[in-house]
Amino acid sequence: MRIVILGPPGAGKGTQAKRVSKKYGVPHIATGDIFREIIASSSEIGKKVEKYVKSGELVPDEIVNKIVRERLSRPDCRDGFILDGYPRTVEQAKALDRALENAGEKLDLVIELEVSDDEIVRRLSNRRVCRNCGAIYHLINNPPKIPGKCDKCQGELYQREDDREDIIRNRLRVYRERTKPLIDYYLKRGILVKVNGNPKVNEVWEQIRKILDEQIALKSSRSDKLMDG
Ligand code: AP5
Repeated sequence: MRIVILGPPGAGKGTQAKRVSKKYGVPHIATGDIFREIIASSSEIGKKVEKYVKSGELVPDEIVNKIVRERLSRPDCRDGFILDGYPRTVEQAKALDRALENAGEKLDLVIELEVSDDEIVRRLSNRRVCRNCGAIYHLINNPPKIPGKCDKCQGELYQREDDREDIIRNRLRVYRERTKPLIDYYLKRGILVKVNGNPKVNEVWEQIRKILDEQIALKSSRSDKLMDG
């Protein structure tokens, strides 16, 4: 399955994409995580992208497209992937289409998580992330057992620099201007499904799981028919 999960900052893309990856065995590719790793490496490219990420602006398309193209060409993506945070502009969506087309593939599904702005600010200002394994917590909805420590690996939990309220507002503005047009782009292609991202994590997950199970059943019945015919 080749899936994109789309939605405003803090919609729960990372939280849900991790579950999809675990249940369906596809790699979770999050461009935000890739950029944070590149920044931590203090390389030339890291210095270049840091100013965009810290201020909540988008990293230029040519840099993102190159990184994603390289990542998708690795063997673990052969049977599918879930892309989280990419594409974020129509240019990126076109670049993704071209890369998949060249490999004789196409996207199966785009999941759009819809969440209100107030809920987003509430979620992001309380988010904490494990520096070691990337696990995501929420101080109120999903707190760690020991404050400041990851339940899974005991790593240190930190608050992202772009999770300050003024930067969150800027990220929301950028989302509306640059990323929302993608919804029409994928609606026209008939591969977009909308999911209400406001309820609790498990309830959102139930909606997504159902959609993906139906998609898998549909794909296998199509291939059965092809074999029969
Ligand atoms: P990125 O890391 O992708 O940030 P984002 O899209 O703003 O998304 P977030 O990671 O903030 O949120 P999420 O939707 O994953 O929510 P999460 O599951 O963590 O990008 C960062 C930056 O990198 C960008 O600003 C840009 O500069 C650059 N960048 C990245 N990709 C790019 C691209 N393609 N092009 C150009 N630049 C790019 O959940 C959030 C919180 O809510 C957590 O605390 C979680 O526990 C909690 N939560 C989740 N679901 C629920 C729920 N249902 N109920 C209650 N709480 C919940």
